[in-house]
Amino acid sequence: MSDSLVAAARQAQQQAYAPYSHYQVGAAVETADGTVYTGCNIENASYGLAICAERVALGAAMTAGARQFRRIAVVSSSEPPASPCGACRQVLAELAPDAEVIAAGPRSVMRWTVAELLPVAFTPGHLT
Ligand code: THU
Repeated sequence: MSDSLVAAARQAQQQAYAPYSHYQVGAAVETADGTVYTGCNIENASYGLAICAERVALGAAMTAGARQFRRIAVVSSSEPPASPCGACRQVLAELAPDAEVIAAGPRSVMRWTVAELLPVAFTPGHLT
């Protein structure tokens, strides 16, 4: 819980734009050189267009040119902690296949590999 990456995700959670679900999520991704990029969920009146915090954080990192990711933390109000949705798992399999995934709630933390969250993923290799 004292992990600085989780703390960064908690900070980002404060910026969540979630007027429809009222479910605020923050994420923080750590690159190979230790740089941290954050994101929050961003909802829309067209509900299906909501973007998860994890993908916002990865987008910020990618935009800055980062390509190697060590860890990603996601923070919510859920206990047990909420793990990334299926869409985010697919994006993690593409962009951060070797990252550790850390999910934190108010009281506990859980950790997985991306492969544990999305076994037998569809990957760029399947397109060759
Ligand atoms: N959400 C995330 O941001 N990350 C997750 O891992 C799960 C779900 C968001 C999407 C939506 O804005 C809200 O949480 C409720 O589903």
